[in-house]
Amino acid sequence: MSLATRPVASVPNDLAAFWVPFTPNRAFKKAPRLIARAKDMHYYTVDGKAVIDGSAGMWCCNAGHNRARIVEAIQSQAGELDYPPAFQFSHPKAFELASRIAALAPADLDHVFFCNSGSEAVDTALKVALAYHNVRGEASRARLIGRERGYHGVGFGGISVGGIVANRKMFGTMLAGVDHLSHTYNREQQAFTKGEPEWGAHLADDLDRIVALHDASTIAAVIVEPMAGSTGVLPPPKGYLQRLRAICDKHGILLIFDEVITGFGRLGCAFAAERYGVIPDMITFAKGVTSGTVPMAGVIVRKGIYDAFMRGPEHVIELFHGYTYSAHPLACAAGLATLDVYRDEKLFERAAALEGKWADAAMSLKGTPGVLDIRTLGLVAAIDLSSRPDAYGKRAYDSMEKAFHEHGLMFRITGDTIALSPPLIITEDQIGEIFDKVGKVIRQVN
Ligand SMILES: Cc1ncc(COP(=O)(O)O)c(C=O)c1O
Repeated sequence: MSLATRPVASVPNDLAAFWVPFTPNRAFKKAPRLIARAKDMHYYTVDGKAVIDGSAGMWCCNAGHNRARIVEAIQSQAGELDYPPAFQFSHPKAFELASRIAALAPADLDHVFFCNSGSEAVDTALKVALAYHNVRGEASRARLIGRERGYHGVGFGGISVGGIVANRKMFGTMLAGVDHLSHTYNREQQAFTKGEPEWGAHLADDLDRIVALHDASTIAAVIVEPMAGSTGVLPPPKGYLQRLRAICDKHGILLIFDEVITGFGRLGCAFAAERYGVIPDMITFAKGVTSGTVPMAGVIVRKGIYDAFMRGPEHVIELFHGYTYSAHPLACAAGLATLDVYRDEKLFERAAALEGKWADAAMSLKGTPGVLDIRTLGLVAAIDLSSRPDAYGKRAYDSMEKAFHEHGLMFRITGDTIALSPPLIITEDQIGEIFDKVGKVIRQVN
């Protein structure tokens, strides 16, 4: 039966019990945006309306929705092996997926620790960094450095190194010994740039300032998103990441790239590290690894980090860390099938090939009333809207509601910024359709 002819989904008549995350619950429950089904580039609402997916769900569904190969892999795994213990036992697909991910990662990033969410991956990377210095006899390296406007999930580790005020201010003092680099956005210098802005590489030198304050011997690691996603898409200035790597090297500080969004093709490569030719010491990933189908995440570490732990008696656990559902069989099966789809359909290459068309289409909205800046990178775009007096975030919120209910388009918002990041299977016509709809919505909410 085709999606269009299937009966509509039943709608719950009581929305009270579910506390919807990162959502204004009262407003949502008055006019809920409920999705019943999905296929390829589209969602279908509970009343059967098609909605084109301009955000790959939440930066997850890079292979498009409900792809047959991935669905079949999950179904068949569910009938084969539900769950083996994740500690002291394992299953073959966990090793297979780790090898496949290591092969995609650059240089000697060749060991993978599995988690279930980006937040867990970030916590894991931060803990590995601290423990790594510890096992090498440099336990004084206990400080962690994040960046303003960074998003690293919602665990205490992630909000501590993260730089989003609203995500931090209600939650006490968080981790001790954390400092932040300045963010890299400057509208005067960078507005309406396609790709990496020319201005801003020098902002990496902020790390030298922090080192001068605390001394390198107290600093374990720096964590940054190669492209800050959740605070409104901030592409790295040209040369910035290279400079950050050089300063970390100078001081023996580990560099962690949080690639939860940028991993698995979003920027036209398997990882942003490859796009920029910068080798971090660890990469966190999530979302695209299973194209959003089953929760999975992880940390890829360089050989030297893994090797540093492989000492002491062989019956003793080397890293006291892990999750009940690390490398869950369903997630591994989904991940393997997803990587097959990416490879066979050349979806990372497709994202790279479409980058120019995508950027041109996004920039065609320059000059639309109320548009303050547009940024693009890979298959990502952000559009800053002018804020309503005394109602920061309301214009973008209204635009999201109208896009969904009136134009059959889904995108994400943050503050008064619209963020777009479609599945990598998008066609050129669909790129046109999305930006045409975005333009209409922006004019409507102006
Ligand atoms: C860069 C980055 N790190 C971490 C996370 C947290 O991932 P999760 O929501 O799976 O915990 C996100 C989520 O959007 C992210 O964008």
